[in-house]
Amino acid sequence: MEKKQMIYEGKAKQLYTCDRDDVYVMRFKDDATAFNGIKKAQITNKGALNNQISTILFHQLHRHGIKTHYIETLNDREQLCYKVEIFPLEVIVRNIIAGSMAKRLDIEEGTPSSKPIYELCYKNDELGDPLINEDHAMALGFITEVELRTIKETTLAINQLLISLFDRIGITLVDFKIEFGKLPDGTVILADEISPDSCRLWDKITGKKLDKDRFRRDLGNVEDAYQEIFNRLHEVYHD
Ligand code: TMP
Ligand code: ASP
Repeated sequence: MEKKQMIYEGKAKQLYTCDRDDVYVMRFKDDATAFNGIKKAQITNKGALNNQISTILFHQLHRHGIKTHYIETLNDREQLCYKVEIFPLEVIVRNIIAGSMAKRLDIEEGTPSSKPIYELCYKNDELGDPLINEDHAMALGFITEVELRTIKETTLAINQLLISLFDRIGITLVDFKIEFGKLPDGTVILADEISPDSCRLWDKITGKKLDKDRFRRDLGNVEDAYQEIFNRLHEVYHD
């Protein structure tokens, strides 16, 4: 599939049109940002690793009946995906308290939650992606109650699938962020990516952080951590 014109560039990915009107090519970059773009760097090989990691995870989700925008992986940095209208929402699930929730509510990072915590943030860089609830999302006018119900049910199902998938490779899924979009016929599907950029992944034995917090918090060895996640996934889930 030949790439044509770049139609969108985000912090970590680009989208291109191609020969088909209903799909686009998603290209993973090595760029990393944190704190709403204030901290910036290149992480060698990150784009290729996230492409491969997200490919494995989306294949596994498909196997378990989750509908996504993913069609196929084209090369080391590119995937073919269905064109969707992305909801301006960051959908977050937390199994263990960490990051912004630990800070906001003064809870010790690493405290397990008695049930998965479902959060929505309004994807808006100028506002700093504020935490909102379902009523706020509907009041903003970009989503219906039925679409929100689908997103919540799908997200909690994805959480259970990802927890067991990572458990098999000795990783605790602490939390993650996903995004959803709408096909022209109105079907709501998972979009974007799932990778160490968008999840907190801790080694079950050592507790070592194997995700983007290594970059956010200057812990070093960022590429090694992403490589470790890929290696472990690839060993068990090559298909
Ligand atoms: P948080 O604790 O900083 O709110 O992050 C929760 C989860 O969402 C964590 O797994 C990292 C992910 N995340 C993103 O994917 N993009 C973002 O811009 C932020 C802030 C977090
Ligand atoms: N992607 C986010 C940004 O730069 C931050 C993050 O992942 O922590 O704004």
